[in-house]
Amino acid sequence: MMVLRGIPWLCCVCCFSVFVRITAADLSYSVPEEMKPGSFVGNIAKDLGLDKAKLSYRKARLDSEENYQQYCDFDSKSGNLIVREQIDREELCGEKISCVLRFELILENPLELHRVSVLILDINDNSPVFPSESVKLEISESAVKGANYRLIEAHDMDIGQNTVTHYSLQKNDYFVLSVNEVSDRRKSIELVLDKELDREKERDINFVLVAADGGNPQRSGTANIHVSVLDANDNAPVFDQAVYKASLPENAPLDTVVVTVSATDADEGVNGEVTYEFSRISEKAKRVFSLNSQTGQIKVIGGLDFESNSKYEMRVDAKDGYGLSSDSTLIIDITDVNDNAPVIHVKSLTNPIPENVSPGTEVGIINVQDRDSEKNRQVRCSLQQGVPFKLVPSIKNYYSVVSTGQLDREVVSDYNITITATDEGSPPLSSSKSLHLSVADINDNPPVFEEESYSAYVSENNKAGSTLCSVTARDPDWRQNGTVIYSLLAAEVNGAPVSSYVSVNGDTGVIHAVRSFDYEQLRSFKVQLMARDNGSPPLSSNVSVSVFISDVNDNPPQILYPAPEGNSFMTELVPKAAHGGSLVSKVIAVDADSGQNAWLSYQIVKSTDPGLFTIGVHSGEIRTQRDISETDSMKQTLIVSVKDNGQPSLSATCSMYLLISDNLAEVPELKDISYDEKNSKLTSYLIIALVSVSTFFLTFIIIILGVRFCRRRKPRLLFDGAVTIPGAYLPPNYADVDGTGTLRSTYNYDAYLTTGSRTSDFKFVSSYNDNTLPAEQTLRKSPSDFADAFGSADSSPEVGNIYFVIFVYEHF
Ligand SMILES: *[C@@H]1O[C@H](CO)[C@@H](O)[C@H](O)[C@H]1NC(C)=O
Ligand SMILES: *[C@@H]1O[C@H](CO)[C@@H](O)[C@H](O)[C@H]1NC(C)=O
Ligand SMILES: *[C@@H]1O[C@H](CO)[C@@H](O)[C@H](O)[C@H]1NC(C)=O
Repeated sequence: MMVLRGIPWLCCVCCFSVFVRITAADLSYSVPEEMKPGSFVGNIAKDLGLDKAKLSYRKARLDSEENYQQYCDFDSKSGNLIVREQIDREELCGEKISCVLRFELILENPLELHRVSVLILDINDNSPVFPSESVKLEISESAVKGANYRLIEAHDMDIGQNTVTHYSLQKNDYFVLSVNEVSDRRKSIELVLDKELDREKERDINFVLVAADGGNPQRSGTANIHVSVLDANDNAPVFDQAVYKASLPENAPLDTVVVTVSATDADEGVNGEVTYEFSRISEKAKRVFSLNSQTGQIKVIGGLDFESNSKYEMRVDAKDGYGLSSDSTLIIDITDVNDNAPVIHVKSLTNPIPENVSPGTEVGIINVQDRDSEKNRQVRCSLQQGVPFKLVPSIKNYYSVVSTGQLDREVVSDYNITITATDEGSPPLSSSKSLHLSVADINDNPPVFEEESYSAYVSENNKAGSTLCSVTARDPDWRQNGTVIYSLLAAEVNGAPVSSYVSVNGDTGVIHAVRSFDYEQLRSFKVQLMARDNGSPPLSSNVSVSVFISDVNDNPPQILYPAPEGNSFMTELVPKAAHGGSLVSKVIAVDADSGQNAWLSYQIVKSTDPGLFTIGVHSGEIRTQRDISETDSMKQTLIVSVKDNGQPSLSATCSMYLLISDNLAEVPELKDISYDEKNSKLTSYLIIALVSVSTFFLTFIIIILGVRFCRRRKPRLLFDGAVTIPGAYLPPNYADVDGTGTLRSTYNYDAYLTTGSRTSDFKFVSSYNDNTLPAEQTLRKSPSDFADAFGSADSSPEVGNIYFVIFVYEHF
């Protein structure tokens, strides 16, 4: 339409092309009057070639501007036109030669209009009637043979052959009848004197005049003629004009003088006294006009209506005292006054209108009628501005109400449109009609989530069934088209169906946890939710919900070194010459939690000599507090507690055995310490172990130096001062951090190097991979293996995992 905007005429062509199929074919039927209701007139459907089956759907119906619907019916099943009410041609059309009922057959989709006319044929159902049953004549006996006397003709309401065709006179001695054709429809009938009268012989003569029509069977009417024979003769009155014409507006008030007829009589006295009367007047005219019998003045006595009767024709008789008369015709034309406002009829209306109708769709048909004539019935029709509808003139006084834009129920759900019709009279009359149009819903809006994505935060160890968060989607459509149902889109989280993690309430959008989450296994996951409406077809939209699990301090610190009680072999040697502040040993602990919950602090809770050793609160490094003196006990035991910083905090304790000695020979004294009998040969083993380890160490240093020398450009970080823990010491759940089944070394540091001590002398060096350490391939060493290493110095490290355990004492 944008393209066409510049070419308005083309636009019009487009609009009107919708109605191109409108036709106005004419059909005529004829039917005799007085037919019984239900009589068949004709099959319109067949005659117009319309599909009978579609008549109902197309709302085929008869319409008539003059309210003729009462006479005929259209049966939309059979397509037949039938008589509805007995028709009396005479009442309907009076003396009009052709009596035609005009109808319009209207079909919709598309609008189609056919003119149908029904000619009502006359049947001879009325007899000729004389104005009065008896006619009195007074005739002088001096009248000569051949003298003629006017008689008032008989009237038959039928037309054509069925009207009066001939007159006959009962046989008598004196008179014969003379009939002369004045015009088609008028005859003058006169009595002609055939034999001289003789008052002395016969004073009164009576005979019968018969008027017969030409119908079959014939009908007739009679008048008795009564002739009194007088002594003298006189003149009949004579009208000034043979025809009086007057014209009168339909709104003429009562008592308006229309015209005054006048006739003069040449006689004097009673013979010259003229009186007037209507000799032929219709019932309708009798109700609206009066004639003053003395003055001949004709006045309005009833309401005139151009629309129901625009012309009156009557005959006035003037009579003198003896009954001699003449007549004149009076024609009164009624002129139109704009006294009828246009009337708007809604012929069809699609209500409600689906909101997806395309612009240009016909939603209603209206018809405008004005009963006035000519300019007074020219009607202009308009529809108010600001609504997406317009009026498109169609055939005759029909207009289509057409949508001009896209409707949207979610924006405007109903319209009140006002149609105004104004005629061109002066002053113009107008009327208006309001139509209420509702817009019906179509499922054209998908549900829309209030947020682009949702996040839920939950602490681990939550209860199954606890609420995580809720999502809301809105759909502005109506009823089920706007009812939102939530559901989870199938997916997998950690290899398990998402439905085993969360569930969503379909009606409320509240998301529940289905299981208890473990932060150490799963830190966050994403689920996709769908909001779908209940329309058909349904519309939907998706949203993602991220669930973040937060840590709870549910893992106590785990001490890696020294090994837990029971397997304890960990005895540290402290040189006697150790000065205050020397590093003696280190407690290594880890915590599977994270953040504060894994922030470990170390404390000596019990010691043999409380003043001798201290522990770094965060490093776990055990140092001498002062120089060792001779008096110090050789065996020192420390109980160290490791606490995390969670709320509440969890802790673990371990014992550390220290031996103050420079001499390995003193080691046997260790027997006294809590070791088994089996360890009695410890000293010799220890020596062997230390020698082999030292040798190994030296070899190693040489290798390292060699390697470093060779690869100077690509230095390898082997001993970076960090403590690297073999995977076997990790709690099993450590192995899965980002779901790949691998443990990133960086994470390794995060998790364990809470002390950050770079001065540590303890180095657990594992197969050092730059990036990842496959969890399954981590060392299968347990703390007891360390014991074995000390127990048998020649036990070789595992092949494939270059693995060293090196204890380096500063003073070694
Ligand atoms: C339309 O008219 C009806 C009754 O006259 C009224 O209740 C309704 O609010 C109107 N609607 C609009 C959209 O103006
Ligand atoms: C919903 O929309 C469909 C079409 O998408 C329509 O047929 C139906 O009537 C609408 N329902 C309601 C309650 O409006
Ligand atoms: C929502 O996701 C489902 C499943 O992946 C898909 O079938 C559907 O088309 C998506 N809907 C929208 C609106 O993207």
